[in-house]
Amino acid sequence: MRTLRTIPELRALLSEARADGSDIGLVPTMGYLHDGHTSLVRRAAAECDQVVTTIFVNPLQFAPGEDLDAYPRDPAGDAEKASAAGTTVLFCPEPDEMYPTGADDVLTVVTVGLLGQAMEGESRPTHFAGVCTVVAKLFNIVGPCRAYFGEKDYQQLASIRRMAADLSFPVEVVGCPTLREPDGLAMSSRNAYLSERERSVAPVLHEALIRGARLILGGETDASAVRAEMARAVRSAPLGELDYVAVADPDTLQPVERCDPGSRLFGAIRFGRARLIDNIAAGEATDAG
Ligand code: PAJ
Repeated sequence: MRTLRTIPELRALLSEARADGSDIGLVPTMGYLHDGHTSLVRRAAAECDQVVTTIFVNPLQFAPGEDLDAYPRDPAGDAEKASAAGTTVLFCPEPDEMYPTGADDVLTVVTVGLLGQAMEGESRPTHFAGVCTVVAKLFNIVGPCRAYFGEKDYQQLASIRRMAADLSFPVEVVGCPTLREPDGLAMSSRNAYLSERERSVAPVLHEALIRGARLILGGETDASAVRAEMARAVRSAPLGELDYVAVADPDTLQPVERCDPGSRLFGAIRFGRARLIDNIAAGEATDAG
């Protein structure tokens, strides 16, 4: 595995690889890698000759007061995990490399309209512009590739997919299933923020989504009844503050009033400074046990 820190080095290496006939997989991350991240790398390694994993804690997607400075970091551990999972090129730029004029002075940003405003966008109004802008830069730096993103951050995946289509990026966006701990909690770098007690309660979010999905599979079509059931399930936990639960169209991410097994269920919950998000397709509940 080669570790690179500058854009010209990465471009030079990838143009050589392409000249040799290699196709390229891209796995953007913010590091502190866990099995969810490495599942994307493994998938990319199975499908592409070269796998570029990027590690960059992107200041543009954090609002003032969010956890940019506290975001967990483990460069040595990340390099080991990325390599073991099949990364051939690890790209770890410094903020100056990605934002030469400073992250506070970026004038050109990519927004995805309504997709970025629903759900997560309500409490994080600038978040998806920050995500789409850095991912657009990575797409431009890496060039034609398959890019792998997790369904864990489904609104992000949908936004990036739409951005790639709207702006004609030569990138195939590949969505990958959410990896979970044995008790159902979606793996996340932010789980590191949870106290032992919070960690023991945190699976309640996934349980609430499953309860909502089961209602839908049982024939419930009134989304407000499904939302109420999910909110009740979250509030039954002794810790954690409900941020939102939603039943939405899987493509537009707009809330639906009438739901069916094609609908997607979303939720966010706060434990102190940790804010956890999760989502499932209603039709997934049968597999989820
Ligand atoms: P990060 O939170 O580090 O996640 C990197 C990738 O791993 C994302 O595509 C995310 O959806 C995926 N991922 C995280 N947890 C997962 C899980 N439990 N199962 C499967 N995939 C999982 O998402 C970001 O970074 C950033 O916003 C980024 C896209 C890198 C832009 O800065």
